[in-house]
Amino acid sequence: MKKPYYITTPIYYVNDKPHIGHAYTTIAADVIARFKRMDGYDVMFLTGTDEHGLKVNKSAELAGIDPQTFVDQVSQNFRDLMPILNVTPDRFIRTTESAHKKAAQEIWNRLIASGDIYLGSYEGWYSMRDEAFYAESELVDGKAPTGAPVEWLEEPSYFFRLSKWQEPLLTFYEQQPDFIAPNSRRNEVVKFVEGGLMDLSVSRTSFNWGVTVPNDEKHVMYVWLDALTNYLTGVGFPDTNLESYKKYWPADLHLMGKDIIRFHAVYWPAFLMAAGLEPPKRVFAHGWWTNEGQKISKSLGNVIDPIDLISQYGADAFRYVLMREVSFGQDGDFSISGMKNRINADLANAYGNLAQRVLSFIYKQCDGIIHASADLEPQDKVILLGLETALTEVRTAIDHQALHKMCDSIWQCIYDANAYVDAEKPWSLRKENPERMKVVLYVLCNVIKRLALLTFPILPQASETMLRLLGESDFDLENFSALIPDQRIIQEPHPVFPRIVDEA
Ligand code: MSP
Repeated sequence: MKKPYYITTPIYYVNDKPHIGHAYTTIAADVIARFKRMDGYDVMFLTGTDEHGLKVNKSAELAGIDPQTFVDQVSQNFRDLMPILNVTPDRFIRTTESAHKKAAQEIWNRLIASGDIYLGSYEGWYSMRDEAFYAESELVDGKAPTGAPVEWLEEPSYFFRLSKWQEPLLTFYEQQPDFIAPNSRRNEVVKFVEGGLMDLSVSRTSFNWGVTVPNDEKHVMYVWLDALTNYLTGVGFPDTNLESYKKYWPADLHLMGKDIIRFHAVYWPAFLMAAGLEPPKRVFAHGWWTNEGQKISKSLGNVIDPIDLISQYGADAFRYVLMREVSFGQDGDFSISGMKNRINADLANAYGNLAQRVLSFIYKQCDGIIHASADLEPQDKVILLGLETALTEVRTAIDHQALHKMCDSIWQCIYDANAYVDAEKPWSLRKENPERMKVVLYVLCNVIKRLALLTFPILPQASETMLRLLGESDFDLENFSALIPDQRIIQEPHPVFPRIVDEA
């Protein structure tokens, strides 16, 4: 039986059109999901939309449409984004689905039954933009620490006894040192919890766009309690006897941006423990992008539109640049010139050129035939072995969400392969030593095949093209080292990564 692997992205608020933040987590999750599938795992990859709460409600009002019609439209934009990014979720969840409402209400009932929810009244600050409550002491110049405006609330509210979970959470972090990553985020979260936890308001009465609280219809559930539960709904909760639930829960990895780590690393495990359910195995927070050195914001008008960039440069290039440009977990800067440099240097020159010069040479000078050989020189073995080492490194990188390291390992092999071509000079060998030429080309085809398998999770389109050109159709990493059979005929090659030429 295959080992299960359950990975999630945050579910996105439907108040806005998709931007680089949405694209980033979704692509990262897709890279990991695709790799795990190739590596023999039974993968469940969940993404979707977060459709309740004050923010979405307000956006619908502003649009002058009833909330349900509004969320139907905007959620569809997010769903449509998936094939554009070339990502492959197994399920796209919406929090307005009745299955999800049932799951959220079941969590609520469990928290009532365990005595973790009580009725009180909330008096304090709330930020609609963050959908978060803030203590007076957290405010900076009258705003949320995130810079978002806050408003004063006074209303009856149910509370979750978060304070009671301080010690159990700290014990949990200690027992599962890999639960929060990267380490800087872990330290931040531990410090926050050590500082003491206040009970959390988990219902609202001043609007009704949310999941109704069981047995008290005046209240809707706090949008984060509702939203986090999507990770359970996605695998079949509340039916805990369901095969998918038993197989996939607890989730292996929740991916998200650093701004929402607290919800995932503090509230979520506390809710789950209180409900008698297992917390996820790991939460990983990536950093934030700036645009040409500037903070991205709607008011500055510098929001990066993934659809725009993809229509210009293609999904593969966009995916690669996001994974390569920044160490996953750190903040980074996006720039068009940086993107073009990466595309030209890493994709067109290094990778594309390697494949193109080798394959077109075989196609033109060797009738498109690959000749297998067992007569390998030490340098041939070294270059082939380098790919096996890279596979091991990539596997480790994936398990640590070190997606930039994954790129490093693969591109090192690409540089080595280009150096090997320059050193072995197959074109000179054509006259001098045609037998040796065949061996060199054979080695190179196998190198390209392995490279294409390694790059497939990041560059699905180009990698698949390369594999097809080589006549390969097996994407299973179990057969990574299998050599291309003798007399394989390749297809007529064409460059898979066009260079970007500036009009200027
Ligand atoms: N609905 C919640 C998540 C609920 S999960 C149970 C939410 N939605 S969101 O639409 O606001 O999500 C935004 C995601 O984009 C977050 O992961 C956030 O970190 C990410 N980003 C928003 N701006 C970003 C950048 N400039 N750079 C990188 N990621 C950023 O939060």
